[in-house]
Amino acid sequence: MRDSLTLIRPDDWHLHFRDGAQLQGTVPATARAFRRAIVMPNLNPPVTNAERARSYRERILAAAPAGSDFEPLMVIYLTDATTPADIAEAAASGFVYAAKLYPAGATTNSDSGVRDPSAIYPLYEALEKHDLPLLLHGEVTESEIDIFDREKVFIDRYLADIRAKFPALRIVFEHVTTADGVQFVQAHDKLTAATVTPQHLMMNRNDLLAGGIRPHNYCLPVLKRREHQLAIQQAVLSGDSRFFLGTDSAPHAQDKKEAACGCAGCYSAPAALPLYAMFFEQHGALDKLEAFASFYGADFYRLPRNTDKVTLVRENWVIPTHVDVGGLTMVPWQAGVEVSWRLKD
Ligand code: NCD
Ligand code: ZN
Repeated sequence: MRDSLTLIRPDDWHLHFRDGAQLQGTVPATARAFRRAIVMPNLNPPVTNAERARSYRERILAAAPAGSDFEPLMVIYLTDATTPADIAEAAASGFVYAAKLYPAGATTNSDSGVRDPSAIYPLYEALEKHDLPLLLHGEVTESEIDIFDREKVFIDRYLADIRAKFPALRIVFEHVTTADGVQFVQAHDKLTAATVTPQHLMMNRNDLLAGGIRPHNYCLPVLKRREHQLAIQQAVLSGDSRFFLGTDSAPHAQDKKEAACGCAGCYSAPAALPLYAMFFEQHGALDKLEAFASFYGADFYRLPRNTDKVTLVRENWVIPTHVDVGGLTMVPWQAGVEVSWRLKD
């Protein structure tokens, strides 16, 4: 059994930093392990254009630890009012790396999202033309569609046609949660990829609902049946370059999670890399961790791979039960769980 693991520094291709005082907690937690992160734009109000992305980026950089070379990769949030000119401007900015489609109402701060994903084809065309990836929250939102079916219905109703009509558009199926999503990605070329969260690799809906409701395992898209978890695991363990690391770390204050109507999102940043390492090790695939965490995402985004390294040492530690994030108490995902890898300082 090896007792240390050195890999090229990873990047997080799907992350929520939040804003204001919370950046004091979230940015250092991510910058410790990751050199870059795709920063989700679902603030209130959302990051809808290059100008908002520029000022948000500055606030993030101001919260990075001294001496850190952490680089936030900004994303604009598509709305019904976004224009192809907004996309051209974002692409020309040099710091916007993608655009995110949230169907209106699908998740946290998605009220300004797109009401009809089939009504914004000029925006997909602009993204394809300017070579900016389209990041999808791939769920429909209609109340009559069962929450466990919303990913598959999104694929059938919208994604298949978008994929077919814009063959040169890079698409990321964010936080894939179903075998249907996995198969969709596998059925296409390298311009279609997916990010994979630690919770969708390590858990299924029993971890949310069996033996008591566990709000800290509640995220969107919601955890699915075990057979879906297995499909995601197999895709990642096969070493397929279309599946790469995106934690979807999404902090909410403890009282907003442990509530009658609890918020969706798992704050995984404090232990994300050790948890992914544990997953790969438990499946005898530790040798596949580095490419998943550090190569495939950079290649997809056509960015250079990092050159510096991080080291994980074999050491048991327990994920804290609470952390302070800018004055708010948060319960990290997997709080109280013993982890067998620790990130070396
Ligand atoms: C995210 C959040 O809280 O911003 N929540 C989540 O459950 N994943 C939004 C998202 O990515 O859907
Ligand atoms: Zn997210």
